[in-house]
Amino acid sequence: MGRISIREFYDDDLDAVVKLWWEARASAERPVYSLAEVTASCREDHAVVAVHDGEVIAAAVGRAAHAQGWIVFFGVSERTRTEDVAGQLLDALERKMAPLGLSTLSVLIPEGGRLDLLTSNGFQSRDALRYLERQMPVQRRELDLLKDVGGRILPRHLWENVSGMRREKQLLEERLVAPLAEPDLADRYGVVPPRAVMLFGPPGTGKTTFAKAVASRLDWPFVEVFPSRLGDGKSSMAATLRSVFERIGELEHGVVFIDEVEEIASQRSDPPTPTQGVTNELLKIVADFRDREGMLLICATNFVRGLDAAFMRHGRFDYVLPIGLPDAEAREAIWRRYVPSEVAVAVDFTELVGRSAGLTPADIEYAARRASQDALARALRAQQAGEGRRASAQPTDLSTADYLEALSHTRATVSDEQQSSFLDDIETLARL
Ligand SMILES: Nc1ncnc2c1ncn2[C@@H]1O[C@H](COP(=O)(O)OP(=O)(O)OP(=O)(O)O)[C@@H](O)[C@H]1O
Ligand SMILES: [Mg+2]
Repeated sequence: MGRISIREFYDDDLDAVVKLWWEARASAERPVYSLAEVTASCREDHAVVAVHDGEVIAAAVGRAAHAQGWIVFFGVSERTRTEDVAGQLLDALERKMAPLGLSTLSVLIPEGGRLDLLTSNGFQSRDALRYLERQMPVQRRELDLLKDVGGRILPRHLWENVSGMRREKQLLEERLVAPLAEPDLADRYGVVPPRAVMLFGPPGTGKTTFAKAVASRLDWPFVEVFPSRLGDGKSSMAATLRSVFERIGELEHGVVFIDEVEEIASQRSDPPTPTQGVTNELLKIVADFRDREGMLLICATNFVRGLDAAFMRHGRFDYVLPIGLPDAEAREAIWRRYVPSEVAVAVDFTELVGRSAGLTPADIEYAARRASQDALARALRAQQAGEGRRASAQPTDLSTADYLEALSHTRATVSDEQQSSFLDDIETLARL
């Protein structure tokens, strides 16, 4: 074997490094860093190669992150593998990176990869470490697009934060989340992942909350389309809607949410209303959505019986799911969210939960805040009258009685009539 020389990486060496990466990938030395990362580091960070007879037979690529350097690729061609080349190459990379003031040079290698080439060069193996990685939900190339369509990544755990509502959660979990998150598993059971669903229920019951929770659970971006913003005056609402969805369609994944969809999908009438064109467009969009993977359209309405019949026909929405008033468990969690922790021990939550049946989460929030405000006002008045020392927050200042008093002034958002229409709608229109 002729002389092997070690030198800096030049752009012309890129093909050879790519070949080494693929070679490593097919062996026990499976590279940890992706090819894109390795080629980026060749160009922008630090790389050295070993050359034999004009051919690149090994490469070492590193990058520095503050005081810690990482070897992102280290590959020696199978045919010429010798400890000698490996050692020289690691030395060269180290010399190149040392002036950066590194305190450590680290390298990740897969289980079964060769340690000896590294340990003989002064690397020490750190035991009991595990490598974990997370695929970011939106890739860099999609970020601008996402911003452009007003989409965003929601915080994690929104799903867990929806308290109570077990039936609804279980339904959404089984029908939506599981088939979308695990399409292969769904396929084995012949389940086709849903593409479009309708949530309906009285105002303030948590439809928007659930739509966001589903996106958070799937780790997909959430894009809300606002019917009220479609009329920009320049082009027709239908044309605006089409172009919005064309852009959204370029995303790899996403939950697209249209709240108050009745605004653009109400029953067609004679003579036609101005929104008729947009209803027709929406029907086309739903149909297109059906041919696409990785996207879920969620529409929500307070008025499901007012929706256009064509819209509700089978084959458009996979499910039409009711979201009703919060159950006892949900009500308790909502109360606990607003009752200050210092007074919570003395508060009779069972009583509050029982007395708030029929209220929406927003109604409960209103009652809780009102009780707090009244108690504070009382404490301030007492202080002004000179009898109190300071408005100190004695636990007794805010009690179950205050909450019950506030509840007696809270009007239920959902009337009995609305509730009974909702139950009728479940009978006639829900599709679980
Ligand atoms: N199960 C729940 N647990 C805790 N908070 C909830 C729950 N459901 C809803 N909420 C809260 O209730 C409020 C109203 O919910 P949301 O906006 O999702 O209702 P909606 O059905 O979309 O209402 P609208 O019909 O007015 O659009 C929100 O502040 C939400 O955080
Ligand atoms: Mg809503």
